[in-house]
Amino acid sequence: PTTETGSTPAPQGDASATDASEARMIRIFDTTLRDGEQSPGASMNLAEKLEVAQLLEAMGVDIIEAGFPIASPGDFEAVQKIASAIHHSTICGLARCADKDIDAAWEAVKGARQSRIHVFLATSAIHREFKLRMSTDEIVERAVAGVKRAKGYCDDVEFSPEDACRTEHDFLCRVVEAAIDAGATTVNIPDTVGYATPTEIYERFTMLRNRVPNIDKAVLSTHCHDDLGMAVANSLSAVAAGAGQIECTINGIGERAGNAALEEVVMAMKTRQDYFHCTTRIDSTRLVPASRLVSKTTGIQVQRNKAIVGRNAFAHESGIHQDGMLKERSTYEIMSPEDVGFAKTDLVLGKHSGRAALADRAKMLGFTLTAEQLNTVFTEFKTLADKKKEIYDGDIVALVQHQISGS
Ligand code: KIV
Ligand code: ZN
Repeated sequence: PTTETGSTPAPQGDASATDASEARMIRIFDTTLRDGEQSPGASMNLAEKLEVAQLLEAMGVDIIEAGFPIASPGDFEAVQKIASAIHHSTICGLARCADKDIDAAWEAVKGARQSRIHVFLATSAIHREFKLRMSTDEIVERAVAGVKRAKGYCDDVEFSPEDACRTEHDFLCRVVEAAIDAGATTVNIPDTVGYATPTEIYERFTMLRNRVPNIDKAVLSTHCHDDLGMAVANSLSAVAAGAGQIECTINGIGERAGNAALEEVVMAMKTRQDYFHCTTRIDSTRLVPASRLVSKTTGIQVQRNKAIVGRNAFAHESGIHQDGMLKERSTYEIMSPEDVGFAKTDLVLGKHSGRAALADRAKMLGFTLTAEQLNTVFTEFKTLADKKKEIYDGDIVALVQHQISGS
């Protein structure tokens, strides 16, 4: 390596990526029930959490972070119930590097078939000075003690240096190395305040992989917040730099502006396998049902133009696009709606729509129009579309029937 970040070592993952035809398996760690629930107004009751956890499991999520057991008796109970109800995903509980947190996390997850304890401690200068009032030596000592205590309960231990993306490189390398030596099997590098850019994330992960001597003994994980709208891009950048796990939430819910959206990172890797050479265990046809369930249980609506799961994600209104779609879907669609769990592509009829889409919809509704009938109905349709935001099938039926009965 010629720079601090140096050349990129071979990436991590469950499969070798040296052969470009072989996709690396990226672990999906869902934190909808923990960081997601930290979204203002997003709290869920026990039954709702169980329903979400069951859907996450059915979808193929590798690790479900079910909650922060020390936070409240309700959180503890939810993690415990999820741990006994879920069989295929690993169940994870969050803990600060404090004995009582770690003990509670273990009590809550110990009933799971596969359990994980996730311990965290802030490492950036801002957090050390103003929040923790601890020296770097004290931080390392506390992190090591936390990982060791968790390891005493459970083989699978994750460590997060909170605010890692604003931590000095040398100190971050020191903490990560010490945490792995103490037994951490996953090291997560959170962009806690959503401050990093994709290039910086790439450089930081590459730097860690070049400078931390025992880094390959742990899975390197990414956890990005969306304060500047870069959480998904940053997570994918971490994967490109060799991360083997992505932490994310359904619909991107989470603290403040939220976390990386699970549906977006999964579909980006699936749709651009040619670029990332990565895959996941996620059954993508469950993405829309999961999005709807989380939206319903948290009361947080999904914006219409949200990538992958928004109502408009596969809706085409302009005449040029609709005409292209009717001829060949790949002209304007890079994924199929069925692949993410939508019933079908939506050609929305509105003022930008063209004759081809109108004829197609009329045919679908049982009317084959002559060229002359289509001309007249199209004129009336455009007049109506200028007055209404969206034209429904009932409007088309009325226009066509009026034309047929009048001609
Ligand atoms: O954003 C963050 O730093 C966290 C940690 C607890 C992993 O959520
Ligand atoms: Zn977070």
